[in-house]
Amino acid sequence: MALKNKRILLIISGGIAAYKSLDLIRRLRERGATVIPVMTKAAEEFVTALSVGALAAHKVHIELFERDDEVDVGHIRLARDCDLVLVAPATADLMGKMANGLANDLASTILLATDRPVLLAPAMNPKMWSQPAVSRNASQLMIDGAHFIGPMRGEMAESGEEGTGRMAEPLDIVAEVETLLDTDPKPLAGKKAIVTSGPTHEPIDPVRYIANRSSGTQGHAIAAALQRAGADVTLVSGPVALADPRGVKTVHVERAEEMRDAVLSALPADIAVMVAAVADWRVASASGEKIKKQAHGGVPMLPLTENPDILKTIGHHPKRPKLVIGFAAETNDVEENGRAKLTRKGADFIVANDVSAETGIMGGKRNQVSVIGHDGVEHWPDMDKGEVAERLVAMIASRLNG
Ligand code: C5P
Repeated sequence: MALKNKRILLIISGGIAAYKSLDLIRRLRERGATVIPVMTKAAEEFVTALSVGALAAHKVHIELFERDDEVDVGHIRLARDCDLVLVAPATADLMGKMANGLANDLASTILLATDRPVLLAPAMNPKMWSQPAVSRNASQLMIDGAHFIGPMRGEMAESGEEGTGRMAEPLDIVAEVETLLDTDPKPLAGKKAIVTSGPTHEPIDPVRYIANRSSGTQGHAIAAALQRAGADVTLVSGPVALADPRGVKTVHVERAEEMRDAVLSALPADIAVMVAAVADWRVASASGEKIKKQAHGGVPMLPLTENPDILKTIGHHPKRPKLVIGFAAETNDVEENGRAKLTRKGADFIVANDVSAETGIMGGKRNQVSVIGHDGVEHWPDMDKGEVAERLVAMIASRLNG
């Protein structure tokens, strides 16, 4: 219920993407927000006030001059009696009015009268979005302090055209609203963090590679949790099927050597959390061409060579971050091996977990870890990888701030 007690004034302007606003209302309410809907006349051509009002469980405001409300200075009250004004979809027309201070209907009047944060989710035909006039208006609105989410690239609902103009997805809009209204303390504000995540792919030839079962779930969750705690996060990710975490600078790499280079170029930092399952070895000389099945008269020999140990490099680096944390995926003697790594790698903590196949941790959603430090071990209970991330970030914050 991240939006409990929050009042969101949702302005729906007239575009085909207005159908997504119905889902947006549901999503906002699921998180505890009160949604006060305002529709432009054009919006009514796309969705009915009846559906909007039913989903919001709130009166829908459309007219500028409503007799009953005017007694109470309707539009001024609406504009101020909320925590945030969200415009979704925001049409080129409404943005044009806003950018130029025009107010000839309820929506534009509220936008001119409000002193609350304003978040715009534009949606329009890609040709319209790329018009200089629209770009000018969008830039002006940013200068004036409006926040934007999207538009996104993709197929247009009405024409099937590809391009930038789709309204952002409701869940992403909700996440942005939460970020803008987030009043949580930011214990890691001003701190810089580097996180590695996922596996590495070590090429054998242009089509084959050596890899492992890491999904990147834990590392990405830690990067996202550090970002939410206010840190400036660089995530260096191997090949994964996960989206880049919001607000995190994500560098995509394939090989261990590329991962090392990306990590080193992100220094200096205050925090390093090395979660990636970096391949220990790579093929000494990967073939530039696909190795033919027949070429070796049997199976090819693939001599391996050691990959750089990124955690160890960081742990002993002249620009070593204040806090260096490694992960240790073990299948036996978890604690003992973790402790040995602490010293060898120059880390402050090793988060050790048992990745024996039966635990389902590698590639799964849950994790059960032991946090090994120089002054003892903590055994954490089995939890969701997101919770492990939150708890680890709380520990990082208390170490750095304590
Ligand atoms: O030695 P081991 O691979 O088990 O150590 C695991 C820890 O070291 C993890 O934090 C992992 O990200 C890091 N590591 C690394 N570079 C390597 C191998 C492991 O950063 N080449």
